[in-house]
Amino acid sequence: MSKNSSYRENETVQLFEIFKKFKRFQLRFFEPSLGVLGFFFVTVCVIFCFFYLDYRAVIVKEFIVPGKSERFMWLQLNGSGKNKRVEFLEEEGNGCDLFDGDWVWDEKYPLYQSKDCRFLDQGFRCTENGRPDLFYTKWRWQPKHCNLPRFDAKMMLEKLRNKRLVFAGDSIGRNQWESLLCMLSSAIPNEDSIYEVNGSPITKHKGFLIFKFKDYNCTVEYYRSPFLVLQSRPPAGSPQKVRLTLKLDRMDWNSVKWRSADVLVLNMGHWWNYEKTIRGEFPSDTFDGFYVTLDWLRGSYFQEGEEVKLEMGVEDAYKKSIETVVNWIQLEVNASKTQVFFRTFAPVHFRGGDWRTGGNCHLETLPELGSSLVPSETWTQFKIVTDVFSAYSNQAAEFSILNVTGMTARRKDGHSSLYYQGSNPAPLHRQDCSHWCLPGVPDSWNELLYALFLKHGAKQTFNLSSSRAQV
Ligand SMILES: *[C@@H]1O[C@H](CO)[C@@H](O)[C@H](O)[C@H]1NC(C)=O
Ligand SMILES: *[C@@H]1O[C@H](CO)[C@@H](O)[C@H](O)[C@H]1NC(C)=O
Ligand SMILES: *[C@@H]1O[C@H](CO)[C@@H](O)[C@H](O)[C@H]1NC(C)=O
Ligand SMILES: *[C@@H]1O[C@H](CO)[C@@H](O)[C@H](O)[C@H]1NC(C)=O
Ligand SMILES: *[C@@H]1O[C@H](CO)[C@@H](O)[C@H](O)[C@H]1NC(C)=O
Repeated sequence: MSKNSSYRENETVQLFEIFKKFKRFQLRFFEPSLGVLGFFFVTVCVIFCFFYLDYRAVIVKEFIVPGKSERFMWLQLNGSGKNKRVEFLEEEGNGCDLFDGDWVWDEKYPLYQSKDCRFLDQGFRCTENGRPDLFYTKWRWQPKHCNLPRFDAKMMLEKLRNKRLVFAGDSIGRNQWESLLCMLSSAIPNEDSIYEVNGSPITKHKGFLIFKFKDYNCTVEYYRSPFLVLQSRPPAGSPQKVRLTLKLDRMDWNSVKWRSADVLVLNMGHWWNYEKTIRGEFPSDTFDGFYVTLDWLRGSYFQEGEEVKLEMGVEDAYKKSIETVVNWIQLEVNASKTQVFFRTFAPVHFRGGDWRTGGNCHLETLPELGSSLVPSETWTQFKIVTDVFSAYSNQAAEFSILNVTGMTARRKDGHSSLYYQGSNPAPLHRQDCSHWCLPGVPDSWNELLYALFLKHGAKQTFNLSSSRAQV
């Protein structure tokens, strides 16, 4: 005992001396004692252990998932620790399901810093808005059976030379679009060579925005269209409560601009979560401009042909609008020119309520590894999409599905939560658990988009019976 403890005592005494000197400046009337020192050491240990364990837990979790021996296999360090997956872009990677995989920790991430990217809405700048943890920026999507190419902005821009890449959809589509702008612009040192063609500022802009990368003569565009189908005034003679109707059988007017794109990324369905708002149950204040969609929905009804369908449910309406979109892709979009992607729904993660009733996600700092807690209504929606797509698979509707729902469901840690405004964290009962911090989860969707875009050489067909995006 004696030798060890006297050594310790020695060390303690030295530290004690240092502490005493330090104290003289700061803690004049605070008598240092061993108790204080002890407290100091314990605190340091606890903080250290906390971070250590947090990180470890991630790895341990991977090991203890039962019945997934494959996962265990690739974690076995074999020399370099490299696994033996094929490369997606190479021939052996054909047919690899990119959407079947895991989130893995990767110190090389994120791909950019939000402070270096001028294309981000304040609402996505979580770190700058005070979010304390950075774990959510460190996860990379790893498909089970193949490796994704590492994102190379110059390569993507080169492939986009003289082309148009268009996103059309809701505010989550905008989330993804801004992510891609940051990813691409990280390779361009000359800021002035990237600009909005009409000089519009990016913040809270409705309608559309077209960013041009001058050196590559390409544009990366966003069209705000939460429903993809047309929302406009009701037909004459409609009941007074009908302020707007969603024309389930007509595409958004802007669709004429989408169809000539070279790459088109569509999404919709975020509005699905807000069924009740259609019936007028709606709070007077909305979140920070992001929820304008909801505002639009107030007093909004569905319409087919000339008929306003006062009783139509959201599920039916959703199905019909997807059919309209798929028909439009088949009839109006030239598949030899335009590579079309349909991104599936990105789940929300409100816990203990929804966006109106104090649901939260601000304490989530780790993904759900292995399984996911996706709310059941998400799967209903997902099923509707899948059903519509399978009905068309015989006709070989030519588009790829960005099947992000499952992977995204596990990322309860990735939302803006309290950190969607510049000044102070938002009140606890007004959290944003549907949009995503950037850098963050939408970067991974774009890495998948990148991989599929690069792979796209031969004519590609969406084939649901083989259950993957065929390229
Ligand atoms: C480790 O790597 C070697 C050669 O690279 C290979 O032959 C062996 O099967 C690997 N072992 C495991 C467990 O993956
Ligand atoms: C730039 O790209 C557009 C298509 O987006 C094309 O029509 C035009 O000719 C290109 N300009 C040059 C100088 O290559
Ligand atoms: C479709 O696009 C291809 C390639 O750009 C073009 O050659 C073809 O003429 C287009 N077809 C129609 C019907 O516009
Ligand atoms: C999409 O991914 C889910 C798992 O996340 C899978 O169950 C489903 O079959 C996939 N759908 C398609 C069309 O690839
Ligand atoms: C879809 O894939 C299945 C099996 O991979 C195949 O039998 C079927 O012919 C394909 N359908 C189309 C339209 O390519």
